[in-house]
Amino acid sequence: MTLGVPDVDAVASYYEEFGLRRVGGRPGPGLVLATAEGGEQLALRPAGRRRLLELGIGADDPDDLDRIAAGLRRLGVEFDREAGSLRVRDPNSALQVSVQVGPRITEATAKQEPTNGPGRPDRANGRAPAIERAGRVRPRRLGHVVIGSLDQEASQRFFTEGLGFKVSDRVPGLASFMRCSTDHHNLLVQQAPLNFLHHTAWEVDDVDEVGRGATAMLEGHPERHVWGLGRHHIGSNFFWYLKDPVGNFSEYYSDLDIILDDQLWKPSVVEGARGLYNWGPPPPPSFIQPEDLAALMTGSHAPGA
Ligand SMILES: [Fe+2]
Repeated sequence: MTLGVPDVDAVASYYEEFGLRRVGGRPGPGLVLATAEGGEQLALRPAGRRRLLELGIGADDPDDLDRIAAGLRRLGVEFDREAGSLRVRDPNSALQVSVQVGPRITEATAKQEPTNGPGRPDRANGRAPAIERAGRVRPRRLGHVVIGSLDQEASQRFFTEGLGFKVSDRVPGLASFMRCSTDHHNLLVQQAPLNFLHHTAWEVDDVDEVGRGATAMLEGHPERHVWGLGRHHIGSNFFWYLKDPVGNFSEYYSDLDIILDDQLWKPSVVEGARGLYNWGPPPPPSFIQPEDLAALMTGSHAPGA
């Protein structure tokens, strides 16, 4: 993904602290950061206000691109097709999407540490290995991106009928959780008063890494805290949301639902609080309505925006 931000250096430092690695030697005014297993996943470019400039999506082969091209034609959306890539702009949200043929991201198997439970002393006579962990938490990869759209239904059609995403769960009239991999969701589009980036979510090994990562980020920076620790109902993942210096939320998550067999997953319609979470502290109002939303709306109408 390419993120436009008013202060590239400050944002880059934040995501380095968050556990990404700065990739050096790139020409141009921007910066690139990589995850442990997803590779170069976050590019930063200077921009007047924070905004998602481009979203990159992987495809297995040129046949996928052909299917996407056919879908977009049916929707009447124009696109640029090259041998190994396809570029298209969602006419509704104006989000630029680049689909590229490439290898799938493979993740090394995370070690399952024994835990104790009632009648189940699986870790007898020893301390939890998690409390001995040291060093910076390193997100494995970018897991999902959440955007606000002026017309959620239209954006959903663009991503499902156009780009081939599948809907995993829905909150009617408000949001749809979509996947282009075995993750429960890689993209969430929610109804909003403007098109904007709500958050990015980065996978870590387990709930201890969620907690350790957030604790380290909050040391000396309590203003970064947004919401957590909690567990979502939709997608089941543990979460902790933090805020980067220009107002983008970034989430550490673990234990997201995985859908290996589409036939075995029944998309559900979720309403009420469960659309947001299963347990945790109540979400702050600024999670639903980010504090800079009004400024972003004004900015989006400014000349040159
Ligand atoms: Fe999330």
